[in-house]
Amino acid sequence: MWYMGHWLVVVAAVVVATVAALPANIPENLQPLIGHQVWEVSSERGEAVLWNLVTEGHIDVLDHSGTTRKFRVAGKDADKVAGTLRTANLTHSVIIRDLALFLKEEEGPVERRADISRSCTTTSCPVPSKDAYMTFKEIEYYLKHIGNNNPRVELRSLGKSHEGRDIWLVHIKPVTSKRVGARIAFSHMRKRAIWIEGGIHARERISPAVTLLLIDHFLNDFPQDKPFDIYIVPMANPDGYVYTWTNDRLWRKNRRNNAGSCEGVDLNRNWDAHWGVGASTQTCSEVYRGPSPFSEPETKVLSEEMTRLNNQLNFDLVLSIHNYGQVLLYPYGWTTNPAPHTEDMKKKGNVFLKAAKAHAGTVYTMVNTAGGFYYAAGATDDWAKEKLGTRYVYTLELRDKGRYGFTLPANQILSTATEVWQGLDMMINAIAPEK
Ligand code: ARG
Ligand code: ZN
Repeated sequence: MWYMGHWLVVVAAVVVATVAALPANIPENLQPLIGHQVWEVSSERGEAVLWNLVTEGHIDVLDHSGTTRKFRVAGKDADKVAGTLRTANLTHSVIIRDLALFLKEEEGPVERRADISRSCTTTSCPVPSKDAYMTFKEIEYYLKHIGNNNPRVELRSLGKSHEGRDIWLVHIKPVTSKRVGARIAFSHMRKRAIWIEGGIHARERISPAVTLLLIDHFLNDFPQDKPFDIYIVPMANPDGYVYTWTNDRLWRKNRRNNAGSCEGVDLNRNWDAHWGVGASTQTCSEVYRGPSPFSEPETKVLSEEMTRLNNQLNFDLVLSIHNYGQVLLYPYGWTTNPAPHTEDMKKKGNVFLKAAKAHAGTVYTMVNTAGGFYYAAGATDDWAKEKLGTRYVYTLELRDKGRYGFTLPANQILSTATEVWQGLDMMINAIAPEK
């Protein structure tokens, strides 16, 4: 959600803009949002009504924590949604009159794109950006750069997205040469393995930004006295990500052509784990589950590689990174029945919360997905828990709590990443104590 303090500015802008600001003045990737509004209802009673509207593709719920629900309504759906709310005796307030105008104001200074000439040349990008969101091309430059230059990195494409982009996997191998005797010591220890996935939802730009900085962190300052194999997918949904730059800043799904009026599958509803629960059968819905489990090349290649690696290495931790809400979620999302090792997950989750807060005071909370957030299956986390049997599985919703939401200002990238790696370092240590 977006900061309400801008409301007056936006209303004023709308008055002028409806006459003066023709679509040409609105950046391309905000144009689909012209006439979209953000509404709010009180949550408890509204939940079921909103859920029907979500599955039918009429609204996009933006906020899942707190006592209200905020959602986006397209101009064409406004009458229908207002009618449904009225019938259910729910009153709504309009929080943002026009999202395109609102985000146009916000995005200029706070979410500028990376300056290619400054942070990347056309052939290399040696560090991930800490203060600007990188384009997919820039991300690839960086990944190829470390893949070619860092002996601890193995970069592999797991396969192609619908539109033919690579799904990159970064394997960070344990340190073996830096410390005397480390190789020998490691050979006697069980190998530890971690899987981190970012960018499965296109609009959650802070997710790949943080995930890329985690790669940098694990390579340069993660204190490794244990043999960790760290596998990181910084960009699970490249087509959707590119689409947020070119066409629609708030695009969430992938870019499957559904041969109908709406494109895209929600990749975090497409995994083969209680597929269908908390998801939609309608292509226009933001939570469309796809035609079948693992129908999407993106989820298919991820799950195949995870299965293959897990058979060899037995993951200690699987983490899927999203935003927003500042919540650490533990499975399941499909049922409130407790998952195996729930107490362990909570205990180590608390280690994360505490260490993350120590950096900049950012408060993350921890809840069970189905119990405290919402029911939804077919996600990375439930699949890893059930099909791989991983003990520690989480979905992490990064900053913020709604002021900027998906358009988190780029000047928060570094501090968000820092609190995450501080949390993760402590958590990883707690998961794999001295042997
Ligand atoms: N915001 C995430 C999503 O909607 C949360 C996923 C949590 N996990 C789950 N199984 N529902 O995809
Ligand atoms: Zn997400």
